[in-house]
Amino acid sequence: MGSTKKKMTSTNRRLRDRSRLSFFFVIFFFGLFSVIIIMENFMPDTDKNSLKDDNEDGEEPYTNSDISYEETLDQEGLLPSGNTDPKAKGSKNSSNNGHTASTQKPRIIPIQPDWQPVTGTKEKFYVYSAYYNHLFDHVKIIGATRTKTQQRVKCRFYDNDTRVYHTVDGTVRTIRENWNLKYSACFIICYSGDKKRRPRYVSILPSTASTTTPASNILRIQYASEKSDRLVDFSVCVKPIHFNYDNLLPLLEWIEFHRLMGVEHFTFYNSTIGPKVSCLIEHYGEEIIEILPWTLPFVSQKEIRTEGLFVALNDCVYRHRGASKYLILVDFDEMIVPRKTHNYTQLIDQLDTLSNKKKIGAYSIQNAFFYLQWPDDQKGFTIPGNPLAEQVTKHLLSLRKTRRRARLHPHKQRSKYICDPEKVVEAGNHFVWEMATGYYTLSVPPHLAALHHYRVCEFGGDQCTKNPSVIDKSSHIFAQALAIRVAEKLQQLSTKCHIDISQLFYSKPSSRSVV
Ligand SMILES: *[C@@H]1O[C@H](CO)[C@@H](O)[C@H](O)[C@H]1NC(C)=O
Ligand SMILES: *[C@@H]1O[C@H](CO)[C@@H](O)[C@H](O)[C@H]1NC(C)=O
Ligand SMILES: *[C@@H]1O[C@H](CO)[C@@H](O)[C@H](O)[C@H]1NC(C)=O
Ligand SMILES: *[C@@H]1O[C@H](CO)[C@@H](O)[C@H](O)[C@H]1NC(C)=O
Repeated sequence: MGSTKKKMTSTNRRLRDRSRLSFFFVIFFFGLFSVIIIMENFMPDTDKNSLKDDNEDGEEPYTNSDISYEETLDQEGLLPSGNTDPKAKGSKNSSNNGHTASTQKPRIIPIQPDWQPVTGTKEKFYVYSAYYNHLFDHVKIIGATRTKTQQRVKCRFYDNDTRVYHTVDGTVRTIRENWNLKYSACFIICYSGDKKRRPRYVSILPSTASTTTPASNILRIQYASEKSDRLVDFSVCVKPIHFNYDNLLPLLEWIEFHRLMGVEHFTFYNSTIGPKVSCLIEHYGEEIIEILPWTLPFVSQKEIRTEGLFVALNDCVYRHRGASKYLILVDFDEMIVPRKTHNYTQLIDQLDTLSNKKKIGAYSIQNAFFYLQWPDDQKGFTIPGNPLAEQVTKHLLSLRKTRRRARLHPHKQRSKYICDPEKVVEAGNHFVWEMATGYYTLSVPPHLAALHHYRVCEFGGDQCTKNPSVIDKSSHIFAQALAIRVAEKLQQLSTKCHIDISQLFYSKPSSRSVV
């Protein structure tokens, strides 16, 4: 009896201890979770603050125009074979030995913002740019590789003195729009892990690389928080310029139309550009037109879609985070024309009343073909006291070409969009493939704005001109203002770029005004 009682009390005691222990555990984990939650909530803020503080410490903020700069690099397995700079070759000895030759002088290596190879990977692999995302504390690298890829890579992070401090695995994800070609644009996501140390550069290496493997590429990481203080309202991005594009007057019209609409900044990619257009771009200056090198290491249309445009479009979206409120992704033969308002600021204000504006990430605008084969609108415009501008009105595409296909294409088919770059995760040519959680694309009603698309038949020949058509003069409300701007620029360019204005008017506009 007594022993049974003893057993029972000892069992009770054990039970009691256990429940006390569980209680303790509950309290412990509750505390732990609270700490985690508190940290999650406050870390992004402290992170942001620390970025700001760094800026105030006088570190040169990275600006869009900062496209060719030099950085001091030390010897830790950095660069490269494959880099064009002969000075870079000096790193061979130290990296082969596998130790840091700290006695060697730091080298100056220009970091070109252009395509750079990732050597040693299974498939052809190139990278173009790198962007920090403070929400997820990761770096997104934009590049291109095999469409159906299962490659694994490493991301090597460097601090501001280009000392290697961290290497992590990176996840490669090809973007959705690839047209069944062998190579496509891709993102590489690398979590930087250490919130206190802000990575300044990153290299992508094959997963087999060791700590002494030299990197064949190095990208400066761009921070939205380091862009200029003032957000530009509207910027335009255009896919890489190729075919030695040199169509001066149509481009001038296109640029000045956009400036009239309130666009302040343009981002272009230079694949091949003709001399007159190059001169025009330089004339505007980098404050207005940012031109980025684009030495694409893939065969356009055979290996990768149109000059790797999806790399450029996505690069442009991330590049403009923290720099532009709205981004417009169009080609040189396209203009988004508002029909009830006088500029894009007013258009956006109008569109924002249609829906919950806080949830709009992009505005989709339907395509309207104005086929170039259709005859010109004969009427010019009178501009008293400005004969050049008056003459210009007879030559501007948007004023001459007023016949359009009656039926507009539905949204997502040849449509283009205006977006908030912060809200776009993956950009496509005609619509946003992936939007930040909680945001959507507003389908703009065609009576408020349409995409005027000036080109020849999309499938060749003249068959397209048999489609039902209507006369649409909605662009004529800008006629005088646009012609005056174009005439003024033409006068400036004629001396600077040696352009014979009368020659411009006599030469028949090329049917290939498509970029
Ligand atoms: C590399 O090593 C070779 C032979 O050991 C030497 O002649 C050369 O100067 C070294 N180069 C550098 C950059 O250290
Ligand atoms: C690098 O960053 C540290 C602080 O993070 C700063 O003290 C140092 O001056 C920076 N060096 C350069 C070269 O900007
Ligand atoms: C847009 O048009 C309105 C009305 O004409 C004008 O007040 C405003 O300044 C314009 N905005 C820009 C950026 O041109
Ligand atoms: C585009 O690149 C070519 C070749 O590198 C160069 O000659 C030309 O000046 C560039 N144009 C502009 C506007 O940067």
